[in-house]
Amino acid sequence: MRRKIIAGNWKMNKTVVDGQALVGEIKKEVGKVNDPVVLVCPPFTALTEVAMALKDSEIQIGGQHMHEADSGAYTGEISAEMLLTSGCTYVILGHSERRALFSETDKLVNAKAQKALAAGLIPIVCVGETLEQRESGAMEKVIEEQISGSLDSLSESDMKKTVIAYEPVWAIGTGKVATPEQAEEVHVYIRRLLAKTYGDETANEVTILYGGSVKASNADGLFEKENIDGALIGGASLKADEFTAIVKAMM
Ligand code: PGA
Repeated sequence: MRRKIIAGNWKMNKTVVDGQALVGEIKKEVGKVNDPVVLVCPPFTALTEVAMALKDSEIQIGGQHMHEADSGAYTGEISAEMLLTSGCTYVILGHSERRALFSETDKLVNAKAQKALAAGLIPIVCVGETLEQRESGAMEKVIEEQISGSLDSLSESDMKKTVIAYEPVWAIGTGKVATPEQAEEVHVYIRRLLAKTYGDETANEVTILYGGSVKASNADGLFEKENIDGALIGGASLKADEFTAIVKAMM
């Protein structure tokens, strides 16, 4: 049985006070839910207070990014240990915004994933093609490169822990959700790529989330698909009623 996850990526939104209020609402509705795993990824500044607010609940906390080094002269960065000791169990890595706006490469994402796993954090590694890549027929090649580069030399047991998020860049924040069929097709493709390296058994255990304009109104169709194990949600995760409705759609 694959772990199901509904994850909220708050991006650069919510102050400490706003974040506490949001998780207060979420906790009331789904605080005792552990299947799916309910995960919120606040900005770094709100991690500790959000963790405190969620202490008596099943809701997990994740970072949105981290540096691959243990510590040192990396102004503005944050380490795996800092995330862990702030209450995080997960960390989003290689989000398309990090790749596009902060020049993160597959090699860098791989270094971060290795570090996260070594530290005891579960990485959520994001992959996804642009519209141009999809329309020019390069989608499979792009996904294959991202998967092999970002997950390079992970052990089988680390691969089983790692979560993949398929987030087509053209669907992120655009309101243009992939159809359940389009998403399922890529999820199946990703699982086949994993099977080539790790075999069917491991590939079947890896949780693959879909992300890109997921809302309460389109979640049911996506979650009916066999290979869609949950969602990574941006905009709709900022509203308690939308987010909790998506969690309930997966229950
Ligand atoms: P969105 O963002 O739900 O606002 O499209 C998804 C993401 O970037 O993870």
